Amino acid sequence: MAEKISRYLVTSALPYANGPLHVGQIAGAYLPADIFVRYLRARGEDVIYICGTDEHGVPITLTAEREGTTPREVVDHWWTHMKGTFARFGISFDNFSRTSTELHAENTQMIYRRLKEGGYISEDASLQMYSPTEGRFLPDRYVEGTCPYCGYREARGDQCDNCGRWYEAYQLIEPYSKTTGGPAEPRETTHLYLDLPDFSERLKEWIGSQQHWRGTVKNFILGMIESGLEQRPITRDISWGVPVPEPGFEDKRFYVWFDAPIGYISSTMEWAERIGEPDRWREYWQDPDTRMIHFIAKDNTVFHTVVWPAMLMGAAEGGGEPWVLPYDVPANEFMNLEVVVDGEPRAMQMSTSRNLAVWLHEALDRFPADALRFYLASTLPETADVNFSWRDFQTRVNSDLIGNLANYVNRVLSFTEKYADGVLERPDELHPEALQAFADFREIERRYDARMRDERPREALSELLALGRRANQFFDSEAPWNMRKEDMGRTRATLYACAVMLQSIAFHAAPYVPEAVESLGGFFDGPAVPMPDEQGGLPERFGVSGARPLFRRIEDDEVNAAESRLTNAATGGEGA
Ligand code: MF3
Ligand code: ZN
Repeated sequence: MAEKISRYLVTSALPYANGPLHVGQIAGAYLPADIFVRYLRARGEDVIYICGTDEHGVPITLTAEREGTTPREVVDHWWTHMKGTFARFGISFDNFSRTSTELHAENTQMIYRRLKEGGYISEDASLQMYSPTEGRFLPDRYVEGTCPYCGYREARGDQCDNCGRWYEAYQLIEPYSKTTGGPAEPRETTHLYLDLPDFSERLKEWIGSQQHWRGTVKNFILGMIESGLEQRPITRDISWGVPVPEPGFEDKRFYVWFDAPIGYISSTMEWAERIGEPDRWREYWQDPDTRMIHFIAKDNTVFHTVVWPAMLMGAAEGGGEPWVLPYDVPANEFMNLEVVVDGEPRAMQMSTSRNLAVWLHEALDRFPADALRFYLASTLPETADVNFSWRDFQTRVNSDLIGNLANYVNRVLSFTEKYADGVLERPDELHPEALQAFADFREIERRYDARMRDERPREALSELLALGRRANQFFDSEAPWNMRKEDMGRTRATLYACAVMLQSIAFHAAPYVPEAVESLGGFFDGPAVPMPDEQGGLPERFGVSGARPLFRRIEDDEVNAAESRLTNAATGGEGA
């Protein structure tokens, strides 16, 4: 058994409540965390899994304006939609909150006050675009104008789509408001800043000592700190967000990335409240034994490894108990799409505006959650960008999940029902081939454990498949279909050994395909447990009755239908 850690707090990035979830997000931050958490729970570890929606930010306001509704209605709609979709997909959050709650506003203001108390907040004036006709400051995304570099006339507020250059919005020539088309002008405005440079040394030392962090994450961040951190504005001239508790800031709100990570704290408090132990959140946030692990996609790395830890370090100096810092930030690469265009597979970036994405709720309308989980787990972007492909989905599910794992389960169970009356008693002695298979199982399980502890569920999945291959190999070499005609005693012993391996396969498969393993319990009475050690722990008997296949094959026409949905979106045809 690996070292016993007292407590885990696992989070997945809070998704913006501004549209449906797509499989790229799932592969980046949710499925790996869910698999990891299910793994820890099954081993009796103390773990909670925390998430919620990120409900602030300018794009949500833009959606509301475009749809003629309010930000509140937008986030209410998507919070419900996401919570439901995550549940259908089997993501097992202990709490799924949202950042527009009263509690969260209080927490954000509390962290702000402590940062200020610690001496890390300053005030400064800067130029921002203002619309005199609308009577409001315009966030960058609301401004367009002529590019100061190339003369492109519809350049965005922060970047030119034509020449790719970055600039400040006030540098645009003839800037105008995107919503009204009216003129925009630079005006001076005051904002609050987080003194990030002050944390450089502490961050460097802290990150440098994190031996277990992914090399890619660590080097990227150390390089960034080395090249110099800057003061970060934490307020905006907007009306949707957490109010700023300072005189003169009544018309401003905190920047979404300031309040969002504090959502992890708020969601934990909500959880504690909900389970009737309102102080329990403190164990997870204030006891230094806690391992806090943030699963994210790589575009969120800087916020989780630099800004957020600095906020926690700084707030600790402003009063109260110190906060737990992230133990690890497994940041994943991206998932792109493989789309068939003119009969040829082509890699493309997902584009939510072109509807060029695999939406999770739509995928769940077509296929069972477990099949999708299995495929996505087999192709998680743990070390490099990957492509989602419906063809691949079909192959992985039909050949690995069904051909290898489910096939083994089926063979053992149906054979037991048919030729052993559904009952397998523990034999007095197991033959050497069975003991050898058990020993191999223990070895593969150790590798599985090591990969999982490293937060690498995709690599652990290949060990699960190795268990399946080893078990199938044992079944094949014993050939019980022949043996039963000569030696029913040995046949029963073989099937008994197969059932022991089945328990282990079920145990190690459960984090990936939880529904299937649960339904297995309806016709196989062995618990899902790891391979017992040599000293004993082998059950006295197994019973099987009414076994059914755990999965159905993925058919060509289903895959063709899913694929042409994407092809249409990619070629500008009907999106859905
Ligand atoms: N909403 C952000 C995104 O989808 C992630 C926020 S993570 C948090 O990119 F920790 F800040 F909440
Ligand atoms: Zn330009």
